[in-house]
Order: sequence, then structure tokens, then C-alpha cells
Amino acid sequence: MLLELRDVSKEYPSRTRRMSLFKPNSGLKAVNGVNLAIRKGECVGLVGESGSGKSTLAKLMMNMEPVTSGQVLLKGQPIHERKRNNRKTYKQMQLVLQDSSSSLYPKMRVKEILEEPLRNYFPQEKAMWDARCAGLLELVDLDPSLLSRYPHQLSGGQKQRVCLAKALAVRPEIIILDESVASLDEPSQRAVLAMLKRIQKEQQLSLLFITHDVKSTRQLCDRVAIMYQGKLVETFSGRDCRQLQHPYSRLLFQAMPDESF
Ligand SMILES: Nc1ncnc2c1ncn2[C@@H]1O[C@H](COP(=O)(O)OP(=O)(O)O)[C@@H](O)[C@H]1O
Ligand SMILES: [Mg+2]
Repeated sequence: MLLELRDVSKEYPSRTRRMSLFKPNSGLKAVNGVNLAIRKGECVGLVGESGSGKSTLAKLMMNMEPVTSGQVLLKGQPIHERKRNNRKTYKQMQLVLQDSSSSLYPKMRVKEILEEPLRNYFPQEKAMWDARCAGLLELVDLDPSLLSRYPHQLSGGQKQRVCLAKALAVRPEIIILDESVASLDEPSQRAVLAMLKRIQKEQQLSLLFITHDVKSTRQLCDRVAIMYQGKLVETFSGRDCRQLQHPYSRLLFQAMPDESF
């Protein structure tokens, strides 16, 4: 198993003082007893409404925040035994966020943006950086002529692709996409998802595709996990959503026309 979560919980201290006064342990359980495993080359969808704990789960997986209880295992190794924000973790796992503008430093050209991870992780391959930057853009279906552009000179879809190229630059084994296509219009979303699917197949890459929009999982995911109020309430594979048990999952799918899933 590439990535495994075992009974993972994350509690944040309650924000209101009064509550903690009367109930000392009444923190907010943003993530509550989650079990999930992702195999090499697999794409898993994580669907849930806003506030259900998806981004918190992503941060726990990346070891950006400590778990309150439970374990995150990367290739069988507990990730929280490593230092927080650890280089080795980021070499194996990358996180791509929704807002590409904040992830791309505005004063850097695309070339410098892509060179940064190469400098960090492949300093010995310096002679190949130029070719690698161009290759990364081609991989995400962008023209290498964009290398000299600044982020503000790119469209939303192009910026999102640059973020993906930057994540791919470190040759990770898994990429977590937290609402990464949510801000794009539908045609661009479909194009980016098709591209992701291609890269995932070519590179045996694992993906965790986080979204509030269940429809967008059908193009990409082998398996979909449904999150509700911090818990994983249901997991189903492929397109088989007829057997859904949890009322929230049924509600999610009810709104969709039959042919769309
Ligand atoms: N750093 C934090 N401190 C306190 N509460 C937080 C923090 N981060 C997230 N939360 C709370 O945890 C819950 C889950 O949030 P989040 O993981 O961002 O959900 P999602 O990504 O599904 O929208 C929310 O109620 C949110 O307010
Ligand atoms: Mg979120």
C-alpha cells in the first residue's frame, strides 16, 4: 500500500471560550476516525461538502499538521515520525491547491517556478534543467514558449497546469489535488482532468482527487470516498453508485441525472 490512514483524527481547540469552560475536551473534530488506503497508480476521489474536513485530511497526509490520534503511513512508514514539512515527504507526495494564483510567486517567470523544485531535489542534473522545464510544460499540454511568462500573463487554466507541472517536477509517487480544478470553467476542467488521467496512466502515479463536486470524480477516479462531518461515511468503486447506503451519499447523487455518472 502506498498511502494508508489508520483511524486518523484531528481535533482543533474550540474557538469559543465558554464551550471549553464547561466541556474541557469539546474541541472541534475536523477529522474523525478516518481509514483510507491508496494503492500505487490508483486514483481515489474524496468528496464532501464545504467544512467536512477534506483539506484538514490533506494536511494530515502531507504531515503539514500533527494528527491528534491515529497513523498516516507512507509505504508502511509512519509519516508523523518525520519532521513536519519534511523534504523527503514532499519528494514522495505533492499537494496542489485550488487557488493557483497564491501558489505561484508573481515575480517569477514560469521557467524559474519550475526550476525551483529541480534545484531543490535534482541539483546534480543541472545540465538537464532547461530540457526538463520544457518537457514538464509539454507534459501538461502547454507550449514551452510560456516559460518566459509571468503568472499574471497566463489564464486560470494555464496557471493550474503550471502548478501541476511544478508538482510533477519532483517526480512524486502521489499527488493530492485539493479542489484543484474547482475554479476553472467546465471545458477547462474536463481538459485538465483528461490530462491528469493520461499522466496518471503513463507514470503509474497515484492521485487523491478532493472535490465538493461529485460529478467531476467520474472522469478520473477508480474509487470514491464520501466524507461527511469529519467522517468517511462510504466508499464505492468505479461508477457503481447504486448501492449507496448512507443518506448523505444518496443525497449527493440524487441531484444528478442518471447518465452523468
Ligand atoms: N486551523 C484550524 N483551526 C480551527 N479549526 C479549523 C482549522 N482548519 C480547519 N478547521 C475547521 O475544521 C473543519 C473542516 O475544515 P476543512 O478541512 O477546511 O473542510 P473542507 O476542506 O472539507 O471544506 C471546519 O469546521 C473548519 O472550520
Ligand atoms: Mg477544503
